Amino acid sequence: MVRASRNSTNLECAHAKRSMSAITFTARLVIATQAALCCTTIFSPAFSAQSATAGTAAPLELKRPASVRPWQRYKVDSQGSSWPQTRWSNFSNLANAGVSPPAHAAPAFNLPVEGDAERGRTLAYDRARGGSCVVCHVMGKTTPAQPGNVGPDLSTVGATRDDQSLFNYVYDPRIYNANSIMPPWGAYGVYRLDEVRDIVAFLKTLKEPYAIADKTENPNTRPAPVESRDNLDPTENPAMFGLDSGREVFMRKGANGKSCASCHAAPETAFKTWAARMPRYEPRLQRVLGVEEFITRHGRATTADEMLMQSNDNIAMSIYLHNLANGAAISPELSGAGARAALANGQSLMKRKVGQLNMACVDCHTRERHANKWVRGQYLVESKGTTAHFPTWRTSRGDIWDIRKRFQWCNVSVRADELPPDAKQYGDIELALAALNKGEKINSPGIRH
Ligand code: HEC
Ligand code: HEC
Ligand code: HEC
Repeated sequence: MVRASRNSTNLECAHAKRSMSAITFTARLVIATQAALCCTTIFSPAFSAQSATAGTAAPLELKRPASVRPWQRYKVDSQGSSWPQTRWSNFSNLANAGVSPPAHAAPAFNLPVEGDAERGRTLAYDRARGGSCVVCHVMGKTTPAQPGNVGPDLSTVGATRDDQSLFNYVYDPRIYNANSIMPPWGAYGVYRLDEVRDIVAFLKTLKEPYAIADKTENPNTRPAPVESRDNLDPTENPAMFGLDSGREVFMRKGANGKSCASCHAAPETAFKTWAARMPRYEPRLQRVLGVEEFITRHGRATTADEMLMQSNDNIAMSIYLHNLANGAAISPELSGAGARAALANGQSLMKRKVGQLNMACVDCHTRERHANKWVRGQYLVESKGTTAHFPTWRTSRGDIWDIRKRFQWCNVSVRADELPPDAKQYGDIELALAALNKGEKINSPGIRH
């Protein structure tokens, strides 16, 4: 959960430099004429020379997976940022509910709790162990930089709570609050019992209020981050190279000699709003189809190109198609029975606690829970306003992420096994997010922390 803080901007600099030197961004408008020339090949008797016509169902390859199988978690992003490699199959994830152990009380322990408070403090501040308590709590005057405020200030907790409740709280907070966002540190084995004891020994030393004077240090006064970089300026957003490359892929002949442009001579008009209406329930697959999976399946069926989800070509094409819809309001089709069921499932998946840290999407991304607060140096954003800019450049990762890769990361960061990008569950969640973001204007490619 704790990933790059606001301070870790070394990649940012590297990329800013790279993008500054590499701009020849002029070929913005492509070549409708060239497209028109290609249009003489007739794909099948059903298509005219103008080929694609509104009202016909887009050809899709329906049998094969649209992403790598067997799915293997990324080791590094394209620019070398690493992903954790632990498997968490003994905890629930979005595909398997009911795997995680239920709330349970700590095994018997001695009172008063006596442990090594110094070691407890080291554990409480250790980023490697579940992210440290400081992700969510201010903890007295030794609190390290950029504490979060998802949980209450614990600077005086040693004066207000007894040993037993402290031990129980750290072992499994669900005993007191079934819906707690705080991980069941002991019950889920993040910390051993002797470590919980040492952490409690440290908590018992916290008796003095600690006012953080520095306004940007204090999580309650720290200003929310504002993204002010111009996402459509290629000197600022390296994902703009993806846009150029997407345009090229659109014109490029696939394995059967056809290009996208062979059938779509005027993509600027044909796809002016298309991406804003995605994802959609696709009856032929009986699940939700997003832009990226559409590209894989429609590409296979029409140009015979293999553009697996999250491959460079796929992301580039996704940027291109999203960018054509810039300014269009997100307006997913939600009325059919299939769409309604998918939407309901997506909403319910967003409430499912997953992973060793036992968190749900709604814990971090809704105002009712903990959105608009800080987890260490990262701000928790509300779900509304979070989808219209995908695919997006991630400065802290040095990579372009489609929305499914974002879901995968939000799973892995709470120590839940991620699903392949074309998983049905991600489709349902993507539709639920599109519904929440209805009316937001597509603005792609994005750029974010
Ligand atoms: C993801 C955020 C998060 C992390 C990380 C976290 N907590 Fe909490 N903690 C909370 C929240 C929120 C509460 C408020 C009660 C609740 O919702 O369960 C809380 C409450 C507590 C309380 C009870 C405070 C009181 O008197 O009401 C204690 C003690 C506590 N946390 C200790 C810890 C310790 C020790 C760690 C690190 C091992 C830790 N927390 C890590 C979110 C977190
Ligand atoms: C052989 C002709 C052909 C080729 C090649 C082709 N398409 Fe299509 N495409 C169609 C037809 C037919 C439709 C359905 C009618 C329509 O929506 O215009 C369609 C629809 C679409 C749609 C709207 C889809 C929907 O379901 O609403 C998009 C977007 C699209 N194509 C993109 C592409 C891209 C990107 C490529 C290149 C990978 C491509 N097409 C290649 C024939 C083709
Ligand atoms: C532990 C808290 C946490 C949980 C749980 C979590 N996320 Fe996130 N999520 C984050 C953080 C932190 C960011 C980065 C915010 C930013 O861009 O600064 C983020 C970003 C996102 C974004 C992109 C926001 C943007 O504007 O770029 C989306 C979409 C998203 N999460 C969806 C989800 C979904 C869906 C789930 C559940 C499967 C989920 N998240 C679970 C913490 C969480």
